[in-house]
Amino acid sequence: MSRNYLIFNIIWLIIQRLIEVNCEIKPQRRIHHSATYINNKLYILGGQDIDETDVDGVDNKTLILYGGRSFQTNVNMNLVYMFDTESESWKTTAENYTHKRSLSGLINSNGKMYLFGGRFDYGRIVNDILIFDTVNTSWRNVTDSSAPAPRINYGAVLLPNQTIIYLGGMNANNGSYSLREVYLYDTNNDHWDVKLSTGSIPSNRHGFSAVLGLNGQQIIIFGGRNEKLNEFDPSNSLYTLNINSLQWNIPNVSGKIPKSRHNHKANVFRKYMVISFGTNYDQKDESDILLLDINDNNKFKWTSLKHNNNKLEILLIIGSIIVIIVTVASIGIYKYKKRKETQYEIDVDRVPLDDLSFLGN
Ligand SMILES: *[C@@H]1O[C@H](CO)[C@@H](O)[C@H](O)[C@H]1NC(C)=O
Ligand SMILES: *[C@@H]1O[C@H](CO)[C@@H](O)[C@H](O)[C@H]1NC(C)=O
Ligand SMILES: *[C@@H]1O[C@H](CO)[C@@H](O)[C@H](O)[C@H]1NC(C)=O
Ligand SMILES: *[C@@H]1O[C@H](CO)[C@@H](O)[C@H](O)[C@H]1NC(C)=O
Ligand SMILES: *[C@@H]1O[C@H](CO)[C@@H](O)[C@H](O)[C@H]1NC(C)=O
Ligand SMILES: *[C@@H]1O[C@H](CO)[C@@H](O)[C@H](O)[C@H]1NC(C)=O
Ligand SMILES: *[C@@H]1O[C@H](CO)[C@@H](O)[C@H](O)[C@H]1NC(C)=O
Repeated sequence: MSRNYLIFNIIWLIIQRLIEVNCEIKPQRRIHHSATYINNKLYILGGQDIDETDVDGVDNKTLILYGGRSFQTNVNMNLVYMFDTESESWKTTAENYTHKRSLSGLINSNGKMYLFGGRFDYGRIVNDILIFDTVNTSWRNVTDSSAPAPRINYGAVLLPNQTIIYLGGMNANNGSYSLREVYLYDTNNDHWDVKLSTGSIPSNRHGFSAVLGLNGQQIIIFGGRNEKLNEFDPSNSLYTLNINSLQWNIPNVSGKIPKSRHNHKANVFRKYMVISFGTNYDQKDESDILLLDINDNNKFKWTSLKHNNNKLEILLIIGSIIVIIVTVASIGIYKYKKRKETQYEIDVDRVPLDDLSFLGN
């Protein structure tokens, strides 16, 4: 029995246990995690320095995890892990291609995962695109002189026409890129294009989140940091970009406006932009998960999990896993209810790294 096989079994067992155990502990605040929404569950993996990225497979049930690293130097890591959310089993069949970090992977409708830019482990920041075919697990590396300058921690959104928009990000000197330039990468023909946006262009930033609005016509960005690595004021944190006119706007918002965050993640879930973790907030004052109601394109509304009167009951299951040292969270809205308050349940289970020792070398 190979060592990896053992490890996968352990991960599987831990996940199983997590679902059973119920204790009310808050997960640690985290940055650089990945968050992927599959079938009513938000899978939050890793965080802090693990720095991986993941996507939902074309079958809508496989979580594909790329990159990341172990805190333990002698742990063998594969570059790609796939987690079947139905059978709750892991597999790694992909070749270990190039390892990059601090990037946002996106998957198009053909099941190709695009890994633009990022940083080689402890090294150079690049501007090529690695393409991982999640169906036949083959790799391709696209270098193109018309690609945007090398960057990490940028914003990326897949448009309905299978073009990816890349925005902002950070260069090798901690500098932030402008969001006036909107980079378009057509996944149908691997062609780069750049266009200039207008309107209330957000100041240079990196570490923000970007999602496609419910109407498929605008990108919503939140948070990030500026050149001096400072957070933004809430009034300078939330913007929309019309994908056709490329005009930026500051949306109307109501509700209790949260502090801006950076290196968080955002996903769209039903009518919400779900913001998970990040930094610059106090867990005593704000929920790790923020909900922005984006149903009305002209007026968004902040709703937090803690003070959520939306008659939604949310179950959050969080646990950490060894080896990839990831944390798996699942948010399942499992029933509508009439009670005013929303329950916010968190399950946490931590396995100390030392526990890996019984695997031997
Ligand atoms: C996956 O989900 C998308 C969007 O909901 C849908 O269009 C597609 O048909 C689904 N694919 C499968 C294999 O279920
Ligand atoms: C990938 O690398 C890991 C760690 O070195 C190794 O255990 C695994 O066998 C490799 N996978 C493949 C498919 O080569
Ligand atoms: C992609 O190819 C280019 C040119 O051959 C090379 O410089 C670069 O390191 C490659 N990138 C990756 C991620 O393998
Ligand atoms: C995988 O599929 C792509 C097309 O989607 C094809 O270009 C490529 O050659 C295939 N690779 C392998 C190893 O089958
Ligand atoms: C970037 O910022 C980090 C701290 O956040 C610092 O350690 C590093 O030296 C900076 N790099 C450059 C090139 O300024
Ligand atoms: C995809 O949509 C965007 C936004 O509307 C547009 O700018 C771009 O030209 C489109 N790409 C293609 C290949 O049609
Ligand atoms: C804000 O609300 C006003 C009045 O409803 C509307 O005219 C305007 O377009 C809205 N602004 C944005 C950016 O949606």
